[in-house]
Amino acid sequence: MAERRIEIRQFRKSDLTRLLQIENLCFPSEAWDRQLFLEYFARYPNLFLVAKFGRRIAGYAITCAGRERAELASIAVDPAFRAHGVGAALIEYTAAELQRRQVRHWCLMVRITNESAIRFYRRFGFVRTRTVRGYYEVGGDAWRMSWKLLRGSLPTKGGGKEIQR
Ligand SMILES: CC(C)(COP(=O)(O)OP(=O)(O)OC[C@H]1O[C@@H](n2cnc3c(N)ncnc32)[C@H](O)[C@@H]1OP(=O)(O)O)[C@@H](O)C(=O)NCCC(=O)NCCS
Repeated sequence: MAERRIEIRQFRKSDLTRLLQIENLCFPSEAWDRQLFLEYFARYPNLFLVAKFGRRIAGYAITCAGRERAELASIAVDPAFRAHGVGAALIEYTAAELQRRQVRHWCLMVRITNESAIRFYRRFGFVRTRTVRGYYEVGGDAWRMSWKLLRGSLPTKGGGKEIQR
């Protein structure tokens, strides 16, 4: 695939059809539906982001942020656009915005068998903080992973120390 520009912007309702396509490609057995996306948009519009790769929407990320804590609710990139830095651009944009707001804690849940996502998160310094058995409705355990956003340091390639509670 030719080198193309990655652009991150806020989600618009007109993006929804394409997002649902991406969602079904990425999570075939547990895809979120239209209503759930719209609920997240209603509650957390600012960090509901889409990534364009060239002219095409390639992925999305949703972060629910309070004053001190934030949770990455979902991130997905169309398989056809992976390994081009789209996911990284979504994480870096969100991290910069959380840092601007001085939100220090950013966490997420990930299926313990989702090795590629775990490797991806570790690249940015997310560390496992606990295991939640039976977390997923369709079955399966999760890891909670967390990142402390420290002044002057954005999640970048590297990694942190693992904490097992
Ligand atoms: C996890 C996910 C969002 C990552 O998205 P992505 O756009 O592929 O992420 P990136 O391109 O930034 O990084 C992925 C890999 O590509 C590599 N990469 C990044 N930019 C690259 C480039 N320009 N050229 C070649 N490789 C590149 C990275 O080094 C990384 O390698 P690694 O997996 O060995 O660490 C994506 O795999 C996905 O949608 N997975 C399915 C949904 C999912 O599981 N979501 C998480 C639920 S908790």
